[in-house]
Parts: sequence; C-alpha cells; structure tokens
Amino acid sequence: GMTGRAEYPARRVLDDAPLLAAANGRPVKHRPVWFMRQAGRSLPEYRKIRAGIGMLESCFDPELVCEITMQPVRRHKVDAAILFSDIVVPLKAAGVDLDIVAGVGPVVANPVRSRADVETLPRLVPEEVGAVAQAVRLLTTELGPTPLIGFAGAPFTLASYLVEGGPSRNHERTKALMHADPKTWHSLLGRITDITIAFLQAQLHAGVDAMQLFDSWAGALSLAEYREFVLPHSERVFVEVESAGVPRIHFGVGTGELLGVMGEAGADVVGVDWRIPLDEAARRVGPGKALQGNLDPAVLFAGWDAVEKQVRRICREADAAIAAGSTGHIFNLGHGVLPETDPAVLTDVVELVHSL
Ligand code: CP3
Repeated sequence: GMTGRAEYPARRVLDDAPLLAAANGRPVKHRPVWFMRQAGRSLPEYRKIRAGIGMLESCFDPELVCEITMQPVRRHKVDAAILFSDIVVPLKAAGVDLDIVAGVGPVVANPVRSRADVETLPRLVPEEVGAVAQAVRLLTTELGPTPLIGFAGAPFTLASYLVEGGPSRNHERTKALMHADPKTWHSLLGRITDITIAFLQAQLHAGVDAMQLFDSWAGALSLAEYREFVLPHSERVFVEVESAGVPRIHFGVGTGELLGVMGEAGADVVGVDWRIPLDEAARRVGPGKALQGNLDPAVLFAGWDAVEKQVRRICREADAAIAAGSTGHIFNLGHGVLPETDPAVLTDVVELVHSL
C-alpha cells in the first residue's frame, strides 16, 4: 500500500554539515542554528515576492518555493533551510476543501466530525504533491552544502485543524471525539497518518536531508491522552520514514510533560520550547537523543543585551545536557519567528551562536 516502506534514492553527502552532525551525535565544527518560520513575514524580500499571491498558491509553485526557502539562508547564514510549505499542503493536495487565511491560519470548509466524514477523507497520491517534490529537487542543487529540512504536520495537530475547522484554543471538539468515540478517532488518525507519511516520503524521495514532524498543539494533551490517542500514530510516521536514514526531529509547543514520550515516538532530535531549560529537557528525554531549541521568540524584541544573555544561557544549558548524555544541540527558537521580528537580530543570533 501507499505507506509500505519505500526504497529511498541515494542522497547528497553532507557529512560535514553541522546540523546533520549534531543530529547524529558526531562532533560539530560549530553549533548549528536555524529558526522555525525563518522563511516568512519577518523578511521584506518575502513580503515583496508574495505580494498578490495566495499562501497555498505559492506552496504549489516550485520556483517560488525554492526562492522563498533560499531567502533566509542567504540573509542569515543559517545551518539549514526549511522547505517553504505548510502542514495543510498535503490535505489541500489530496482534495480537502481548505484555505490559509492571513492572520488566522488554516480554515477547513467542512470539518470532520463523524465516522461518515472520516470515511470520505481523501487519500494522498504522491503525484498530487509533485510541485513540492520538484521544489525539493531545485533546492538540493541551489543550496550547495546547506542541508534542507523537509516537514509535515503530526497526526494530532492536523486532526485538530480538521475537526475544529480552524485554529482552536481549547481543542474541545477534537478531545470530545477522542474520548467519546475512540474508534472513529483512531480511524481518523490512521487516515491522516497515511497522508503525513506519503507527504514525507515524497520529500524524502526528492532529496530532503532531514525532517521535522510538527505536533505544534500536542501540549494541549495530558501524558495519558498522548500515549493512548496519539503516540501509536506519530510512532508509525517515524517508523515508515526510518529507512531514508535522515535525522528525524519531533517538535511541539508546551510539551514539557511530553518530552520523554515524544522522544519515544522515534525521533533522533527532540524540539523543546522556552518553558523548560535544555538541561532539564535532557533529564526528561533521557540520553541518546539530540535536543533542538529553545530561545523564546518574544525575547528577540528585548534588545541585544537581553538576547545575548539568553543565547549564552541556552548554550550553557545545552552543554550541560550534552554532558548528561544528550548527543547534540541544534540551536533554534522555542517556536516560530514572529512576523514583527527585526531580521537583523536573527542574523546577529546566528553569528553569536557560531562564535560560542
Ligand atoms: O518554517 C518555515 O519557515 C517554513 C514554512 C512553514 C510555514 N508553515 C509557512 C507559513 C512551516 C514549517 C509551517 C508549519 C505550520 N503551519 C505549523 C507548524 C509550525 C508552528 O508554527 O507551530 C502550523 C501550526 C501551521 C498552520 C499555519 N499556517 C498557521 C498557524 C499559520 C499562520 C497564520 C497567520 O497568518 O498568522 C499559517 C500560515 C503560514 N504558514 C504563513 C507562513 C509563512 C503565513 C502566511 C503568509 O505569509 O501569508
């Protein structure tokens, strides 16, 4: 079937790349750094090139995806590119009626609330994300020695958008479905997991060098809910992409209580938000995995002295994590770059992290 374990083509050899070395527990020539949402509205060159083009429309234009993905690499000298796309792109490609509304986020025309709704959810055929695969191929030439991170939304976070119909503070309809009708819940998550795997496989076949699974809203769940209703599905995603041999990053927001189990799901690298220091995160994740994070994106508005102090603290805590058994540190924010961020501060953070 479409989630059968795939043979992946040989990919570019970027052994020296600090991002891959840190993720694989090898020595690094400098500490790698990239930023979630580095490609986006904080950059004037992004706002310029996106003018008059819808978000989803731009995600299906390979040349535009390539150019937007390159912008932060050129400007900030980050150690990785992240593919310009969105977690709802594979749902849209499969035929789900949805849009990304500026200032709001993904909005789904017909929310999925019943067993019948689940059964009509379309499957993703790889050709439907051919434009994304083409963008990845363009980027593997354009990027030179900089690794490209592919990504997908995790089953829970995608389920929340599908069930709620849009962004949600409390995820009440999603939790109602999981608790009241676990059978329908698991069949919904199974369907979404197939789509997520197919989307990642398309990117891996086209040549991405690493991947991140975004379970942005998993922090809304208790540990017990996560284990019963989410873990088996996210675990399947990691198993199905394992043979590609690329580092797998697992990230969520407000997941302090879930860091251990998010590592257990099969990730090589666990992303941490700013609420937990990295040395404490290392205790929760356990040894043998790398950590990614965790500067509060709001601190970037506090002036350089404060930013520098926090960057230095995070690197110290990461070094303590490594001394305690974590295999590496990838510097990042604890969540995405906020639109009003001064891009010059991001460039300075990259330089500082590299100098430490
Ligand atoms: O990180 C990057 O630079 C790569 C691109 C990327 C986007 N979305 C581009 C985007 C990535 C990795 C995502 C993932 C994504 N999308 C997540 C997981 C990461 C996270 O932030 O937790 C989530 C939850 C979404 C859903 C989504 N899409 C939201 C909440 C929004 C913001 C809505 C808004 O306008 O405030 C989007 C739209 C979106 N995705 C934008 C970008 C650059 C902004 C739209 C625009 O520029 O017009």
